[in-house]
Amino acid sequence: MTYSFFMPTVNLMGRGSAKEVGERCKILGGKKVLVVTDKDLTRLGLVNRIAGYIEEAGLKTVVFDGAQPNPTDKNVEKGEQVYRKEKCDMIVSLGGGSSIDCAKGIGLVIGNGGSIRDYEGVDKSTKPMPPLVAVNTTSGTASEMTRFCIITNTDTKVKMAIVDWRVTASVSINDPEIMAMMPPGLTAATGMDALTHAVEAYVSTIATPITDACALKAIELIFKYLRSAVAYGENMEARDAMTYAQFLAGMAFNNASLGYVHAMAHQLGGFYDLPHGVCNAILLPHVQRFNMIANPLRFVDMAVAMGEKVDGLSVRDGAEKALKAIRQLSEDISIPAGLGQLNVKEEDFETMAKNAMKDACSFTNPVTAKLEDVINIFRAAM
Ligand SMILES: [Fe+2]
Repeated sequence: MTYSFFMPTVNLMGRGSAKEVGERCKILGGKKVLVVTDKDLTRLGLVNRIAGYIEEAGLKTVVFDGAQPNPTDKNVEKGEQVYRKEKCDMIVSLGGGSSIDCAKGIGLVIGNGGSIRDYEGVDKSTKPMPPLVAVNTTSGTASEMTRFCIITNTDTKVKMAIVDWRVTASVSINDPEIMAMMPPGLTAATGMDALTHAVEAYVSTIATPITDACALKAIELIFKYLRSAVAYGENMEARDAMTYAQFLAGMAFNNASLGYVHAMAHQLGGFYDLPHGVCNAILLPHVQRFNMIANPLRFVDMAVAMGEKVDGLSVRDGAEKALKAIRQLSEDISIPAGLGQLNVKEEDFETMAKNAMKDACSFTNPVTAKLEDVINIFRAAM
């Protein structure tokens, strides 16, 4: 088997890096930029600021702020219409995973035609999309640097996993000063999403030494800094560390892929429009309990990265420490304890479990699951 490693060519990190967005658009040869974002960021004034940087570099901007949380095929279609009508020639996404995924979807359809539904699966595109600069505002989905694009099909309510190397942004920007605008709940949920990326990549069936190094460092940083970032959003040391953590977790899962936490969380997002990070955080210890038999030593490695002491413990006890530490972190940052609190209904388990087994993320889970296993995990997470 051969392995690939994907990521954007240019990645800007650190305080003030968002100011370079205009220069980067200019280098990419853009004249008129479609800024894909959401209404909250427009209200906060961030959209004007970023559009200002782009215009200072001599480019024109058009704002499309119709990316909803859990972006849909309809959002993509509307954005595509604005892009064509305004004759744009490149895209800047401003926001977290939702805005970035919506921007990727627009780019994919602009470059390849048809509907976004045609690209569900792996590498379905045949032509490049317009240049995309992704300015990330959360830590995070890491969508600014991955080849993953998740769009909800509004007819089936399924979150379509589009995994395509051509949706990778040309330039990613992670500026911790922008992350400092995130409220505590969003910081907690997106931080747990990043942790889930690192954990699922570390136990994935296609993990490599490169993705392992990224995943373990991400886990270490998240356990050191996520609580502080939630407690005090202006803590720039914590915000800076979390941008690196989520980026490293992105490097890990962009190449080692994910597992049943994401495959199942996508169904909860599609069915009930629930926040992705919260669904992951709740499912994470339950899926990893199921996964532990595949390679318990990997769970001991993760426990060590989480700051747990494992000296003198059996492999089993050391591995258990990783699950306990995940639960404690979730509790400390006020993640809901179970799916029951989110009004998830048992009657939907079977359909969601069937769809989860078809989700591209499930293919690299370290334990092969039967339908009953997936249903049982949903039940345990209630
Ligand atoms: Fe995720």
